[in-house]
Amino acid sequence: MDTYLIPTISQALQGEVQISGAKNAVLAVMAATLLADGISEITNVPHLKDMKTMSDVLRVIGCRVDGGPHTLRIDTRGANHLEAPYELVKTMRASFYVLGPLVARFGRCRVSLPGGCAWGPRPVDLHLKGLEALGASIKVTHGYVEATSNGPLQGGEFHFPISSVGATVNVLMAACLAKGKSILHNVALEPEIDALIDYLIGMGAKIKGKGTKVLQIQGVSSLTPGSGSTIADRIEAGTYLIAAAISRGRIKTTKMNPQHITALLDALQEIGCEIQTGPDWAIVDATKKTLKPTSITTLPHPGFPTDLQAPIMALLTTIEGISLVQDTVYDDRFTHIAELERLGAKIKLKGNTAQIYGGSPLSSAPIMASDLRAGAALVLAALVAEGETSLSRIYHIDRGYEDFETKFRSLGVDIKRVS
Ligand code: UD1
Repeated sequence: MDTYLIPTISQALQGEVQISGAKNAVLAVMAATLLADGISEITNVPHLKDMKTMSDVLRVIGCRVDGGPHTLRIDTRGANHLEAPYELVKTMRASFYVLGPLVARFGRCRVSLPGGCAWGPRPVDLHLKGLEALGASIKVTHGYVEATSNGPLQGGEFHFPISSVGATVNVLMAACLAKGKSILHNVALEPEIDALIDYLIGMGAKIKGKGTKVLQIQGVSSLTPGSGSTIADRIEAGTYLIAAAISRGRIKTTKMNPQHITALLDALQEIGCEIQTGPDWAIVDATKKTLKPTSITTLPHPGFPTDLQAPIMALLTTIEGISLVQDTVYDDRFTHIAELERLGAKIKLKGNTAQIYGGSPLSSAPIMASDLRAGAALVLAALVAEGETSLSRIYHIDRGYEDFETKFRSLGVDIKRVS
């Protein structure tokens, strides 16, 4: 298992980072290709382990998946094994996205329940209830969801009681092939949903209401294979911009949409960073002022993203004074706290709120990544901890950050990977 050796930075990080395609948008689009018979293409795909896992899920189903480093070609003509096995779904929850397309197109499928996650239970009840509202019969047995439909799914109305990215993805995809009209209320507003809608419309889906909380879908009897690019990864961009702040440096992220991370940029401005944005870039400059503590609450988009909760907490440990970080999306997503404490951070957790007593110096220690974003947060903290930090279980980081070491090297820090 690989480990990172992270040196203390000798100077503030400076430079430019080109942001990769959004893994979470591509994962949804990869599943959506199952809605059509033929060869679909996706471009601007990041070269990441999660893409390989989803490719393996599609291959088990009978698809051919190939392409270049940033292009995927998915041929669904051989899709006939309508099952996603536990071995794959447990390693990546987004594998569960095949449920909606498979039952909508083939009238039956068997998909493993994802199981637990490093930061507590992550139910899929809303995925199932939404599909039931479209007429699917759902049976959960032996750890698998068996979904069937007698003929095509039927258009229906469903109100998501809470905002869920995954459930919106699954139910939306299924509704595209349901007979008649579907209305989905309180859908998630994350940019990855908009990217999926664009791709589905390119496949011939009839969807109205993009960017609003209500989607109206007029089902069609078949879709055609899609082709198109994806959006930039807002969480990757956010991570590098937080790296600028934690190192008191200046970083420009390019080929990304600053509108997708306004909550982060507002928070960074509030603590004292200078922010500049253009149509497809953002700069965070923390070289000029002393940063001050703040309060952050994660919320569904356009609120502050839970995926940047751990990275911003790493930053707040370096700012003199008391900051608060509350996660209302995932109450238990705090495994990084114990590791930050090993580096010397002072944090008290009460319920879903962490109180950060910032400003005490961090020093290196052996630490481990417990999930993708926790891993990224620990790298950021290690950059400013005194001495070389060894961070294990970096396979989590490999799931979500393309060319991580190369991009950091271009900013002036040599993170080493050792086996
Ligand atoms: C997606 C992202 C993940 C991000 C999260 C929140 C992907 C592949 N993953 O995860 O990186 O952290 O959005 O922005 O895009 N919930 C239920 N029942 C359900 C589904 C969700 O109660 O059936 C709850 C969850 O426990 C959570 C909240 O809804 O409290 C939001 O979760 P959701 O938006 O579904 O997250 P994911 O789609 O799993």
